Amino acid sequence: MSTRRTWTAVYRRVSRDVVMTVALIIALPAFAQAPSTPTQRAPDTMEARMLACAPCHGKQGEGTDNDYFPRLAGKPAGYLKNQLVAFRDGRRRYPPMNYLLGYQSDTYLQKIAEYFAALRPPASAPASSRASRSEASKSPVMATFASR
Ligand code: HEC
Repeated sequence: MSTRRTWTAVYRRVSRDVVMTVALIIALPAFAQAPSTPTQRAPDTMEARMLACAPCHGKQGEGTDNDYFPRLAGKPAGYLKNQLVAFRDGRRRYPPMNYLLGYQSDTYLQKIAEYFAALRPPASAPASSRASRSEASKSPVMATFASR
């Protein structure tokens, strides 16, 4: 058998396996929905709903190591509510927040505000500075202090 024919045979076998695997993956949801297996649904809780905010504000509103994304947890509910209303109405602008909160009712924004106001997660760890000591001493501000 020439090398070329050997490779053709290997390719055929591999591609058949790939087709079988893909077919199985496509078929899996059908098995998962069989009546004998109870369907798993995520619980509809405030905690679950507020995961939409987690990438930017932390899982419990604790903030991130990026100062631009503010902590929400433990801030007064009245303050948070005002910010949420301002974002919804476009008086405070940050497009992702404006889109997320568009069309939400005052009642629901109040509920969100109370949810985060009641959370008390520890502060997120501050990002450590990547500047070395020698770099820091080259900063004009640091130089001013050093010369005093
Ligand atoms: C894509 C990132 C992102 C997502 C997702 C997001 N936020 Fe924000 N949020 C921000 C940023 C950035 C700010 C600060 C914007 C500014 O002032 O310029 C902010 C500000 C806020 C503020 C004002 C905080 C303060 O101290 O003034 C509240 C309240 C808030 N967000 C709530 C939420 C809630 C509730 C959700 C989920 C429904 C959410 N955010 C989803 C990025 C996000």
